Amino acid sequence: MTALTLKPDGAATLRTDAVVVGVAKGAKGPTVAPGAEAVDKAFDGKLAAVLQTLGASGAEDEVTKLPAPAGLKAPLVLAVGLGAAPEKGESYGSEQLRRAAGTAARALKGTAKAAFALPVESAGDVAAVAEGALLGAYAFTTYQGGEKTAKGAGNGPKQPLADVTVLGGKPRDKAHKAAAERAVALAAEINRARDLINMPPNDLTPESFAAIATAAGKENGVKVEILDEKALTKGGYGGLLGVGQGSVNPPRLVRLAYTHSKADKTLALVGKGITYDSGGISLKPPGHNETMKCDMSGAAAVFAAVITAARLGLRVNVTGWLALAENMPSGSATRPGDVLRMYSGKTVEVLNTDAEGRLVLADAITRASEENPDAIIDVATLTGAMVLALGNRTFGIMANDDAFRTAIHDVAGDVGEAAWPMPLPADLRKGMDSPTADIANMGERMGGGLVAGLFLQEFVGEGITWAHLDIAGPAFHEGAPYGYTPKGGTGSGIRTLVRLAERTADGDLG
Ligand code: BES
Ligand code: MN
Ligand code: ZN
Repeated sequence: MTALTLKPDGAATLRTDAVVVGVAKGAKGPTVAPGAEAVDKAFDGKLAAVLQTLGASGAEDEVTKLPAPAGLKAPLVLAVGLGAAPEKGESYGSEQLRRAAGTAARALKGTAKAAFALPVESAGDVAAVAEGALLGAYAFTTYQGGEKTAKGAGNGPKQPLADVTVLGGKPRDKAHKAAAERAVALAAEINRARDLINMPPNDLTPESFAAIATAAGKENGVKVEILDEKALTKGGYGGLLGVGQGSVNPPRLVRLAYTHSKADKTLALVGKGITYDSGGISLKPPGHNETMKCDMSGAAAVFAAVITAARLGLRVNVTGWLALAENMPSGSATRPGDVLRMYSGKTVEVLNTDAEGRLVLADAITRASEENPDAIIDVATLTGAMVLALGNRTFGIMANDDAFRTAIHDVAGDVGEAAWPMPLPADLRKGMDSPTADIANMGERMGGGLVAGLFLQEFVGEGITWAHLDIAGPAFHEGAPYGYTPKGGTGSGIRTLVRLAERTADGDLG
């Protein structure tokens, strides 16, 4: 994990490998953003002109590397685009800073140390730059560079930036220090979640995921309980068992509990943890199954949020439920037409074994409801329909309470996650009527993301506030990296869940 240090100033004098400066898009060409005055001075005040000569515009995600002039201790200056400069009297936006820091950190892969001389005015700015840098300094290299015949060093992949200094950050200022500590905990857990998502499904099974959760729980004072296939059978968890029965890797339900002695609210988080979604007997065609190791991103997000809440010592109880199973076709797999008896007692006719997420979540939501939490939030890569509706970068929010849905949308905006409220139209329920069982696991194709939401809603305990985040679009990034978003697992939803827990701890939510 990348180390983080705050320093009030010293862009010119700091012993480091690179100094990052911000370039904004101005009306008359690129302008050097505040925070880089000492660096500009070393360029005789001509840094903007030099950058313009090199073709820089200050656009987002633009990187220009320059050899440092005499007068700077660091050998390299990296100018990163911030996009449009703020209006006079306004500050740079958090997400603007987070993305620029992330882009710079990514461009410095293979470098050991860098100082970020970006426009930092407040503790919020410290948080944004730190988060962006720590999230940008991520690489999934576990499976690379281990060839036995490789000759010595230099054959492995480039390592992420190891050491980040945020200039403009005051280590003795309480708010700055707290912002830095929060960023370190949050980024570490997001990066761990990314590792889990990126881990190939032959290594990440329900059992090994549960073992990882157990170890992390122990380390962070979080209680972990695991229901294995025996306990699930005994308890009648027909959803988890039905989805998992085609695989040689049996299902697990993991309960993580972070508690605070002075908490007066409890949040229950439920994550879809399909370690591989082949579709089952309703097998996915080629082109749709290559990335389905990502189908446990919801469980990874819940895991990360609970551990982060514990690391930050938030004054709120947070319970995490990881609904883990592998969805495979085999002679023992659930068939389309089978009826499952769920943990709630409800029967479900499985019309499509590829609509498995709602089955494992239903059991976990019923179980979570038994503890009567103040709210349940489930997170899931649930439907392709949500990706069609909102694209690859935005998750959908559904809820049984309008104010709660709005609050989550606000929180997401606050932490820089793209999200959008979606409805749960009652008329779509009848499409799931089954001639054989209480409900079918599939309904109308149109509005498929909302149909899935309506299915889950049926398993929420009476009177419990509930929201559903469908992160199928943003959970796994297949395009080129941008800002602090790498290729592969992104850690979508985690920042929203953590802020939600903080708001709940502060008494700002109902
Ligand atoms: N895991 C998929 C949803 C998904 C799609 C996640 C694309 C990430 C990217 C889910 O289990 C699924 O297969 N859903 C089906 C439901 C349908 C059969 C009712 C879908 O969306 O096609
Ligand atoms: Mn599926
Ligand atoms: Zn799935």
